[in-house]
Amino acid sequence: KKSGEQYRPAYHFTPEKNWMNDPNGLVYFEGEYHLFYQYYPDDNIWGPMHWGHAISKDMVHWKRLPIALFPDKLGYIFSGSAVIDWNNTTGFGTKEKPAMVAIYTYHDMAGEKSGKIKYQTQAIAYSLDKGRTWVKYEKNPVLENPGIKDFRDPKVFWHQESNKWIMSLAVHDQINFYSSKNLKEWVLESEFGKNIGSHGGIWECPDLFPIKDSYGNTKWVLLVSLNPNGPQGGSATQYFIGDFNGSVFTSDDTKIRWLDYGADNYAGVTFSDIPKDDGRRILIGWMSNWQYSQAVPTYSWRSAMTLPRELLLSKNNNEYYIQSKPIDEIKNILTKSELITSKIHTVKTSSYLIEINKEIQDFKINLQNSTGDIFKIETKNGILITDRTKTGDNSFSEEFGAVHKSMELEKIFNVKIFVDNSSVEIFLNNGELVMTELIFPTNPLTEIYVNEAIKDYKLTPIKPIWKTN
Ligand code: FRU
Repeated sequence: KKSGEQYRPAYHFTPEKNWMNDPNGLVYFEGEYHLFYQYYPDDNIWGPMHWGHAISKDMVHWKRLPIALFPDKLGYIFSGSAVIDWNNTTGFGTKEKPAMVAIYTYHDMAGEKSGKIKYQTQAIAYSLDKGRTWVKYEKNPVLENPGIKDFRDPKVFWHQESNKWIMSLAVHDQINFYSSKNLKEWVLESEFGKNIGSHGGIWECPDLFPIKDSYGNTKWVLLVSLNPNGPQGGSATQYFIGDFNGSVFTSDDTKIRWLDYGADNYAGVTFSDIPKDDGRRILIGWMSNWQYSQAVPTYSWRSAMTLPRELLLSKNNNEYYIQSKPIDEIKNILTKSELITSKIHTVKTSSYLIEINKEIQDFKINLQNSTGDIFKIETKNGILITDRTKTGDNSFSEEFGAVHKSMELEKIFNVKIFVDNSSVEIFLNNGELVMTELIFPTNPLTEIYVNEAIKDYKLTPIKPIWKTN
Protein backbone atom coordinates (compact mmCIF):
# COMPACT_ATOMS: atom_id res chain seq x y z
CA LYS A 1 0.00 0.00 0.00
CA LYS A 2 1.36 3.42 -0.92
CA SER A 3 1.98 5.55 2.12
CA GLY A 4 -0.96 7.79 2.60
CA GLU A 5 -3.13 7.03 5.59
CA GLN A 6 -0.14 6.98 7.94
CA TYR A 7 0.29 10.69 7.20
CA ARG A 8 -3.35 11.62 7.58
CA PRO A 9 -3.60 14.13 10.43
CA ALA A 10 -5.37 12.95 13.56
CA TYR A 11 -6.79 16.39 14.41
CA HIS A 12 -6.60 18.58 11.31
CA PHE A 13 -9.23 18.78 8.59
CA THR A 14 -8.56 16.72 5.46
CA PRO A 15 -10.85 15.71 2.59
CA GLU A 16 -11.59 12.01 2.62
CA LYS A 17 -9.90 11.70 -0.75
CA ASN A 18 -8.32 13.75 -3.50
CA TRP A 19 -7.10 17.29 -3.86
CA MET A 20 -7.80 20.28 -1.61
CA ASN A 21 -6.30 23.77 -1.46
CA ASP A 22 -7.50 27.12 -0.06
CA PRO A 23 -10.18 27.43 2.61
CA ASN A 24 -13.17 29.30 1.12
CA GLY A 25 -16.37 30.83 2.41
CA LEU A 26 -15.58 30.54 6.12
CA VAL A 27 -18.83 31.61 7.74
CA TYR A 28 -20.78 30.98 10.93
CA PHE A 29 -24.54 30.53 10.77
CA GLU A 30 -27.09 29.07 13.19
CA GLY A 31 -24.69 27.10 15.32
CA GLU A 32 -22.52 25.82 12.49
CA TYR A 33 -19.08 26.87 11.31
CA HIS A 34 -18.79 26.30 7.57
CA LEU A 35 -15.57 25.41 5.85
CA PHE A 36 -15.75 25.40 2.07
CA TYR A 37 -12.56 24.68 0.21
CA GLN A 38 -10.92 24.46 -3.20
CA TYR A 39 -11.51 20.86 -4.18
CA TYR A 40 -10.87 18.61 -7.15
CA PRO A 41 -12.87 15.42 -6.59
CA ASP A 42 -11.37 13.36 -9.43
CA ASP A 43 -7.65 13.39 -8.70
CA ASN A 44 -5.05 14.23 -6.06
CA ILE A 45 -3.52 17.07 -8.01
CA TRP A 46 -4.99 20.49 -8.80
CA GLY A 47 -7.72 20.40 -11.47
CA PRO A 48 -11.19 21.80 -12.27
CA MET A 49 -12.03 23.54 -9.01
CA HIS A 50 -15.18 22.90 -6.97
CA TRP A 51 -16.09 24.11 -3.51
CA GLY A 52 -15.91 21.18 -1.11
CA HIS A 53 -17.85 21.59 2.15
CA ALA A 54 -17.61 20.66 5.81
CA ILE A 55 -19.34 21.88 8.96
CA SER A 56 -18.42 21.99 12.61
CA LYS A 57 -19.85 23.03 15.95
CA ASP A 58 -16.44 23.82 17.45
CA MET A 59 -14.04 24.25 14.46
CA VAL A 60 -12.19 21.18 15.76
CA HIS A 61 -14.50 18.25 14.91
CA TRP A 62 -15.68 18.37 11.29
CA LYS A 63 -18.44 16.69 9.36
CA ARG A 64 -17.81 16.30 5.64
CA LEU A 65 -20.74 17.27 3.43
CA PRO A 66 -21.36 16.89 -0.33
CA ILE A 67 -19.70 19.29 -2.77
CA ALA A 68 -21.34 22.73 -2.60
CA LEU A 69 -20.40 24.36 -5.92
CA PHE A 70 -19.56 22.68 -9.22
CA PRO A 71 -17.78 24.23 -12.22
CA ASP A 72 -20.09 25.28 -15.06
CA LYS A 73 -19.88 26.92 -18.47
CA LEU A 74 -18.51 30.15 -16.95
CA GLY A 75 -15.56 28.30 -15.49
CA TYR A 76 -13.97 26.61 -12.51
CA ILE A 77 -15.02 27.82 -9.07
CA PHE A 78 -11.98 29.54 -7.58
CA SER A 79 -11.49 30.94 -4.09
CA GLY A 80 -13.87 33.34 -2.42
CA SER A 81 -15.92 34.07 0.67
CA ALA A 82 -19.40 33.69 2.13
CA VAL A 83 -21.58 36.09 4.12
CA ILE A 84 -25.02 36.07 5.70
CA ASP A 85 -27.23 38.69 4.06
CA TRP A 86 -29.01 39.78 7.27
CA ASN A 87 -30.65 42.83 5.65
CA ASN A 88 -31.69 40.89 2.57
CA THR A 89 -29.87 43.35 0.32
CA THR A 90 -29.86 40.75 -2.45
CA GLY A 91 -33.52 39.81 -2.18
CA PHE A 92 -32.43 36.17 -2.26
CA GLY A 93 -33.90 35.45 1.15
CA THR A 94 -35.97 37.43 3.64
CA LYS A 95 -34.96 39.31 6.80
CA GLU A 96 -36.41 36.45 8.83
CA LYS A 97 -34.68 33.82 6.75
CA PRO A 98 -31.53 35.45 5.38
CA ALA A 99 -29.56 33.90 2.54
CA MET A 100 -26.03 32.65 2.83
CA VAL A 101 -24.27 34.18 -0.15
CA ALA A 102 -21.03 32.92 -1.68
CA ILE A 103 -18.87 35.37 -3.63
CA TYR A 104 -16.29 33.53 -5.74
CA THR A 105 -14.09 33.76 -8.82
CA TYR A 106 -14.92 32.08 -12.10
CA HIS A 107 -11.80 30.87 -13.86
CA ASP A 108 -12.54 30.29 -17.53
CA MET A 109 -9.92 27.63 -18.29
CA ALA A 110 -10.82 27.30 -21.97
CA GLY A 111 -10.56 31.07 -22.24
CA GLU A 112 -7.13 31.11 -20.63
CA LYS A 113 -5.91 28.35 -22.94
CA SER A 114 -7.14 30.19 -26.02
CA GLY A 115 -5.10 33.24 -25.05
CA LYS A 116 -7.93 35.33 -23.60
CA ILE A 117 -6.83 37.87 -20.93
CA LYS A 118 -10.17 38.42 -19.20
CA TYR A 119 -10.64 34.87 -17.93
CA GLN A 120 -11.25 35.62 -14.24
CA THR A 121 -14.51 37.25 -13.11
CA GLN A 122 -16.46 37.45 -9.83
CA ALA A 123 -19.79 35.74 -9.28
CA ILE A 124 -22.32 34.97 -6.55
CA ALA A 125 -24.51 32.06 -5.48
CA TYR A 126 -26.91 31.70 -2.56
CA SER A 127 -28.23 29.06 -0.23
CA LEU A 128 -31.46 29.11 1.78
CA ASP A 129 -30.79 25.82 3.56
CA LYS A 130 -27.68 26.47 5.63
CA GLY A 131 -25.21 25.95 2.81
CA ARG A 132 -26.49 22.50 1.79
CA THR A 133 -27.73 23.44 -1.67
CA TRP A 134 -26.86 26.44 -3.80
CA VAL A 135 -28.41 28.51 -6.57
CA LYS A 136 -26.07 30.45 -8.82
CA TYR A 137 -27.23 33.98 -9.63
CA GLU A 138 -28.62 34.03 -13.18
CA LYS A 139 -26.84 37.27 -14.11
CA ASN A 140 -23.32 36.14 -13.22
CA PRO A 141 -20.65 37.41 -13.38
CA VAL A 142 -21.33 40.35 -11.07
CA LEU A 143 -17.88 41.86 -11.61
CA GLU A 144 -16.37 41.71 -15.08
CA ASN A 145 -12.67 41.52 -15.72
CA PRO A 146 -11.16 44.92 -16.63
CA GLY A 147 -8.33 43.35 -18.66
CA ILE A 148 -6.00 41.89 -16.02
CA LYS A 149 -5.11 38.20 -15.94
CA ASP A 150 -4.94 37.73 -12.17
CA PHE A 151 -8.21 39.08 -10.83
CA ARG A 152 -9.56 36.91 -8.07
CA ASP A 153 -10.36 35.70 -4.55
CA PRO A 154 -13.13 38.11 -3.41
CA LYS A 155 -13.45 38.46 0.37
CA VAL A 156 -16.57 40.39 1.34
CA PHE A 157 -17.84 41.95 4.57
CA TRP A 158 -20.66 44.30 5.55
CA HIS A 159 -19.33 47.77 6.43
CA GLN A 160 -21.85 49.04 8.95
CA GLU A 161 -20.62 52.67 9.01
CA SER A 162 -21.22 53.22 5.30
CA ASN A 163 -24.05 50.74 4.94
CA LYS A 164 -22.48 48.77 2.12
CA TRP A 165 -20.62 45.61 1.27
CA ILE A 166 -16.86 45.87 0.75
CA MET A 167 -14.94 43.40 -1.40
CA SER A 168 -11.16 42.95 -1.22
CA LEU A 169 -9.88 41.46 -4.45
CA ALA A 170 -6.42 40.28 -5.48
CA VAL A 171 -5.41 41.96 -8.72
CA HIS A 172 -2.02 40.76 -9.95
CA ASP A 173 0.19 42.09 -7.15
CA GLN A 174 -2.12 44.60 -5.55
CA ILE A 175 -5.49 44.65 -3.81
CA ASN A 176 -8.55 46.44 -5.17
CA PHE A 177 -11.45 47.41 -2.91
CA TYR A 178 -14.97 47.50 -4.35
CA SER A 179 -18.27 48.41 -2.74
CA SER A 180 -21.85 47.31 -3.33
CA LYS A 181 -25.34 47.86 -1.96
CA ASN A 182 -26.61 44.43 -2.99
CA LEU A 183 -23.64 42.13 -3.83
CA LYS A 184 -24.76 42.33 -7.47
CA GLU A 185 -23.35 45.67 -8.65
CA TRP A 186 -19.85 46.68 -7.67
CA VAL A 187 -18.00 50.00 -7.75
CA LEU A 188 -14.20 50.34 -7.56
CA GLU A 189 -13.29 52.32 -4.43
CA SER A 190 -9.51 52.18 -4.27
CA GLU A 191 -6.32 50.26 -4.95
CA PHE A 192 -3.61 49.24 -2.51
CA GLY A 193 -0.15 47.74 -2.84
CA LYS A 194 2.05 49.91 -5.02
CA ASN A 195 5.43 50.52 -3.37
CA ILE A 196 4.39 48.68 -0.24
CA GLY A 197 4.58 45.10 0.98
CA SER A 198 6.42 42.09 -0.32
CA HIS A 199 6.14 41.48 -4.06
CA GLY A 200 8.05 39.18 -6.39
CA GLY A 201 4.99 36.96 -6.65
CA ILE A 202 1.24 37.13 -7.22
CA TRP A 203 -0.99 38.53 -4.47
CA GLU A 204 -3.87 36.20 -3.60
CA CYS A 205 -6.64 35.65 -1.07
CA PRO A 206 -6.86 39.06 0.65
CA ASP A 207 -8.88 39.63 3.81
CA LEU A 208 -9.63 43.05 5.34
CA PHE A 209 -11.16 43.28 8.82
CA PRO A 210 -11.27 45.46 11.92
CA ILE A 211 -9.71 44.21 15.12
CA LYS A 212 -9.54 45.66 18.65
CA ASP A 213 -6.58 45.59 21.01
CA SER A 214 -7.08 44.86 24.71
CA TYR A 215 -7.64 48.61 25.40
CA GLY A 216 -10.48 48.76 22.89
CA ASN A 217 -8.59 50.61 20.13
CA THR A 218 -9.61 49.49 16.66
CA LYS A 219 -7.19 48.93 13.79
CA TRP A 220 -7.79 47.42 10.36
CA VAL A 221 -5.76 44.47 9.19
CA LEU A 222 -5.24 43.42 5.59
CA LEU A 223 -4.01 39.87 5.01
CA VAL A 224 -2.40 39.20 1.63
CA SER A 225 -1.08 35.85 0.51
CA LEU A 226 1.96 35.97 -1.75
CA ASN A 227 3.16 33.26 -4.13
CA PRO A 228 6.06 32.79 -4.62
CA ASN A 229 8.63 34.80 -2.60
CA GLY A 230 7.52 34.11 0.95
CA PRO A 231 10.16 34.08 3.73
CA GLN A 232 10.93 30.39 3.04
CA GLY A 233 10.83 30.78 -0.71
CA GLY A 234 7.40 29.63 -1.81
CA SER A 235 3.95 30.76 -0.71
CA ALA A 236 3.26 32.69 2.51
CA THR A 237 0.91 35.27 4.00
CA GLN A 238 1.90 38.84 4.79
CA TYR A 239 -0.24 41.43 6.57
CA PHE A 240 -0.62 45.17 6.92
CA ILE A 241 -1.97 47.12 9.91
CA GLY A 242 -3.67 50.45 9.35
CA ASP A 243 -7.03 52.11 8.88
CA PHE A 244 -10.00 51.83 6.55
CA ASN A 245 -12.45 54.68 5.98
CA GLY A 246 -15.04 52.75 3.99
CA SER A 247 -13.20 53.38 0.76
CA VAL A 248 -9.42 53.46 1.21
CA PHE A 249 -7.10 51.29 3.28
CA THR A 250 -3.97 53.05 4.58
CA SER A 251 -1.12 51.11 6.14
CA ASP A 252 0.50 52.61 9.28
CA ASP A 253 3.99 51.87 7.99
CA THR A 254 5.92 50.04 5.29
CA LYS A 255 7.16 47.20 7.47
CA ILE A 256 6.87 43.67 6.02
CA ARG A 257 5.07 41.36 8.43
CA TRP A 258 4.46 37.62 8.03
CA LEU A 259 1.57 35.86 9.66
CA ASP A 260 3.54 32.64 9.84
CA TYR A 261 7.25 32.05 9.27
CA GLY A 262 6.82 28.38 8.40
CA ALA A 263 6.57 27.05 4.88
CA ASP A 264 3.06 25.65 5.20
CA ASN A 265 0.36 28.15 6.01
CA TYR A 266 -1.09 29.71 2.88
CA ALA A 267 -4.25 31.40 1.63
CA GLY A 268 -5.55 31.79 5.18
CA VAL A 269 -8.68 33.88 5.67
CA THR A 270 -11.01 34.58 8.57
CA PHE A 271 -14.60 33.64 9.45
CA SER A 272 -17.45 35.91 8.61
CA ASP A 273 -20.47 36.47 10.89
CA ILE A 274 -18.99 35.25 14.16
CA PRO A 275 -21.63 36.42 16.69
CA LYS A 276 -20.94 39.82 18.31
CA ASP A 277 -20.94 38.38 21.83
CA ASP A 278 -18.11 36.11 20.76
CA GLY A 279 -16.28 38.69 18.70
CA ARG A 280 -13.24 36.62 17.84
CA ARG A 281 -11.40 36.89 14.54
CA ILE A 282 -10.56 33.30 13.54
CA LEU A 283 -8.32 32.20 10.70
CA ILE A 284 -7.86 28.88 8.94
CA GLY A 285 -5.03 28.42 6.43
CA TRP A 286 -4.19 25.79 3.86
CA MET A 287 -1.36 23.74 5.38
CA SER A 288 0.81 23.45 2.30
CA ASN A 289 2.93 25.37 -0.16
CA TRP A 290 2.62 25.63 -3.94
CA GLN A 291 6.30 24.61 -4.20
CA TYR A 292 5.46 20.95 -3.52
CA SER A 293 1.78 20.68 -2.58
CA GLN A 294 0.96 18.46 -5.56
CA ALA A 295 3.84 16.08 -4.88
CA VAL A 296 3.61 15.35 -1.14
CA PRO A 297 3.54 11.60 -0.50
CA THR A 298 -0.09 11.23 0.58
CA TYR A 299 -2.64 9.13 -1.33
CA SER A 300 -5.28 9.67 -2.27
CA TRP A 301 -6.13 12.67 -0.05
CA ARG A 302 -3.89 15.67 -0.44
CA SER A 303 -3.63 18.63 1.90
CA ALA A 304 -4.88 19.51 5.33
CA MET A 305 -6.02 22.77 6.92
CA THR A 306 -4.07 24.44 9.76
CA LEU A 307 -5.50 24.51 13.25
CA PRO A 308 -7.97 27.39 13.49
CA ARG A 309 -6.23 30.38 15.05
CA GLU A 310 -7.64 33.35 16.89
CA LEU A 311 -5.99 36.55 15.70
CA LEU A 312 -5.32 39.20 18.34
CA LEU A 313 -4.01 42.73 18.04
CA SER A 314 -1.05 43.39 20.34
CA LYS A 315 1.76 45.87 20.80
CA ASN A 316 5.48 45.46 21.24
CA ASN A 317 7.69 48.54 21.69
CA ASN A 318 4.76 50.66 20.66
CA GLU A 319 4.29 48.78 17.40
CA TYR A 320 1.21 46.76 16.57
CA TYR A 321 1.45 43.16 15.46
CA ILE A 322 -0.91 40.23 15.06
CA GLN A 323 -0.77 37.32 17.44
CA SER A 324 -2.06 33.91 16.26
CA LYS A 325 -3.39 31.75 19.06
CA PRO A 326 -4.81 28.23 18.60
CA ILE A 327 -8.53 28.57 19.37
CA ASP A 328 -9.71 27.70 22.88
CA GLU A 329 -11.94 24.91 21.52
CA ILE A 330 -8.83 22.80 20.99
CA LYS A 331 -9.19 21.87 24.65
CA ASN A 332 -12.02 19.58 23.39
CA ILE A 333 -9.39 17.14 22.10
CA LEU A 334 -6.73 17.53 24.78
CA THR A 335 -6.30 14.67 27.22
CA LYS A 336 -4.50 14.47 30.56
CA SER A 337 -1.19 16.37 30.68
CA GLU A 338 2.01 15.11 32.20
CA LEU A 339 5.03 17.07 33.42
CA ILE A 340 8.14 15.70 31.73
CA THR A 341 11.49 16.28 33.40
CA SER A 342 13.72 13.89 31.45
CA LYS A 343 15.89 14.84 28.48
CA ILE A 344 14.45 12.03 26.36
CA HIS A 345 10.86 10.93 26.57
CA THR A 346 8.80 8.55 24.46
CA VAL A 347 5.17 9.46 23.81
CA LYS A 348 2.47 6.85 23.36
CA THR A 349 0.62 8.71 20.64
CA SER A 350 1.69 10.38 17.40
CA SER A 351 -0.38 13.48 18.08
CA TYR A 352 0.53 15.62 21.06
CA LEU A 353 1.16 19.09 22.44
CA ILE A 354 4.38 20.30 24.09
CA GLU A 355 4.09 23.40 26.31
CA ILE A 356 6.60 25.53 28.19
CA ASN A 357 5.30 28.46 30.18
CA LYS A 358 8.35 30.36 31.35
CA GLU A 359 11.06 32.57 29.92
CA ILE A 360 13.57 30.44 28.09
CA GLN A 361 16.67 31.01 25.96
CA ASP A 362 18.41 29.00 23.27
CA PHE A 363 16.38 25.86 23.62
CA LYS A 364 16.42 22.75 21.45
CA ILE A 365 13.66 20.25 20.93
CA ASN A 366 14.16 17.32 18.60
CA LEU A 367 11.22 15.20 17.56
CA GLN A 368 12.60 11.88 16.45
CA ASN A 369 12.00 8.15 16.05
CA SER A 370 13.89 4.86 16.08
CA THR A 371 14.12 4.88 12.27
CA GLY A 372 16.49 7.85 12.56
CA ASP A 373 14.14 10.58 11.35
CA ILE A 374 14.57 13.84 13.17
CA PHE A 375 12.77 17.18 13.12
CA LYS A 376 14.82 19.87 14.85
CA ILE A 377 13.40 22.91 16.56
CA GLU A 378 15.72 25.41 18.17
CA THR A 379 16.00 29.05 19.11
CA LYS A 380 19.22 31.04 18.81
CA ASN A 381 19.29 34.65 19.99
CA GLY A 382 15.54 34.92 19.64
CA ILE A 383 15.40 33.36 16.17
CA LEU A 384 13.36 30.21 15.69
CA ILE A 385 14.99 27.62 13.43
CA THR A 386 13.43 24.42 12.17
CA ASP A 387 15.22 21.71 10.25
CA ARG A 388 13.37 19.09 8.24
CA THR A 389 16.32 18.00 6.12
CA LYS A 390 16.32 14.60 7.87
CA THR A 391 12.68 14.20 8.79
CA GLY A 392 11.86 11.23 6.59
CA ASP A 393 10.58 11.54 3.04
CA ASN A 394 11.62 14.72 1.28
CA SER A 395 12.51 13.08 -2.04
CA PHE A 396 9.44 14.50 -3.78
CA SER A 397 10.78 18.06 -3.94
CA GLU A 398 14.06 19.96 -4.13
CA GLU A 399 12.77 22.68 -1.84
CA PHE A 400 11.08 20.65 0.88
CA GLY A 401 14.03 19.38 2.91
CA ALA A 402 15.29 22.70 4.22
CA VAL A 403 16.20 24.72 7.29
CA HIS A 404 13.74 27.55 8.04
CA LYS A 405 14.51 30.68 10.05
CA SER A 406 12.18 33.24 11.55
CA MET A 407 12.45 36.90 12.44
CA GLU A 408 14.03 37.74 15.80
CA LEU A 409 12.13 37.91 19.07
CA GLU A 410 13.35 40.06 21.96
CA LYS A 411 12.72 37.22 24.39
CA ILE A 412 10.79 34.00 24.47
CA PHE A 413 8.34 33.50 27.31
CA ASN A 414 6.19 30.64 26.16
CA VAL A 415 6.21 27.78 23.70
CA LYS A 416 3.43 25.63 22.30
CA ILE A 417 4.17 22.90 19.77
CA PHE A 418 1.33 20.94 18.17
CA VAL A 419 2.55 17.72 16.59
CA ASP A 420 0.39 15.63 14.25
CA ASN A 421 1.15 12.76 11.84
CA SER A 422 2.47 15.06 9.13
CA SER A 423 2.68 18.54 10.63
CA VAL A 424 4.25 20.61 13.39
CA GLU A 425 2.78 24.00 14.41
CA ILE A 426 5.01 26.08 16.69
CA PHE A 427 3.66 29.09 18.59
CA LEU A 428 6.02 31.32 20.58
CA ASN A 429 4.93 34.11 22.94
CA ASN A 430 1.21 33.38 22.61
CA GLY A 431 1.56 33.41 18.86
CA GLU A 432 3.72 36.49 18.35
CA LEU A 433 5.74 34.12 16.17
CA VAL A 434 4.32 31.07 14.40
CA MET A 435 5.91 28.41 12.24
CA THR A 436 3.74 25.82 10.52
CA GLU A 437 5.62 22.98 8.88
CA LEU A 438 4.70 19.78 7.08
CA ILE A 439 6.80 16.67 7.69
CA PHE A 440 6.67 13.11 6.34
CA PRO A 441 8.52 10.90 8.82
CA THR A 442 8.87 7.20 8.00
CA ASN A 443 7.34 6.43 11.39
CA PRO A 444 5.67 8.78 13.90
CA LEU A 445 8.02 11.11 15.78
CA THR A 446 7.25 9.78 19.23
CA GLU A 447 10.62 10.42 20.87
CA ILE A 448 11.16 13.89 22.29
CA TYR A 449 14.64 15.13 23.08
CA VAL A 450 15.17 18.48 24.87
CA ASN A 451 18.39 20.31 25.78
CA GLU A 452 19.50 21.68 29.20
CA ALA A 453 17.67 24.95 28.67
CA ILE A 454 14.44 23.04 29.25
CA LYS A 455 14.10 21.84 32.83
CA ASP A 456 10.62 20.51 32.28
CA TYR A 457 7.67 20.77 29.93
CA LYS A 458 4.02 19.84 29.79
CA LEU A 459 3.07 17.04 27.43
CA THR A 460 -0.54 16.48 26.39
CA PRO A 461 -1.66 13.68 24.05
CA ILE A 462 -4.25 14.89 21.53
CA LYS A 463 -7.31 12.83 20.62
CA PRO A 464 -8.14 12.13 16.97
CA ILE A 465 -11.16 14.00 15.59
CA TRP A 466 -12.24 11.23 13.23
CA LYS A 467 -13.99 8.18 14.60
CA THR A 468 -12.48 5.91 11.95
CA ASN A 469 -8.88 6.87 12.67
C1 FRU B 1 -4.37 30.34 -3.96
C2 FRU B 1 -5.07 30.22 -5.30
C3 FRU B 1 -6.10 31.30 -5.46
C4 FRU B 1 -7.06 30.69 -6.45
C5 FRU B 1 -7.04 29.24 -6.05
C6 FRU B 1 -7.23 28.28 -7.20
O1 FRU B 1 -3.78 29.18 -3.50
O2 FRU B 1 -4.10 30.27 -6.33
O3 FRU B 1 -5.58 32.54 -5.88
O4 FRU B 1 -8.34 31.24 -6.38
O5 FRU B 1 -5.80 29.00 -5.42
O6 FRU B 1 -7.41 26.98 -6.76
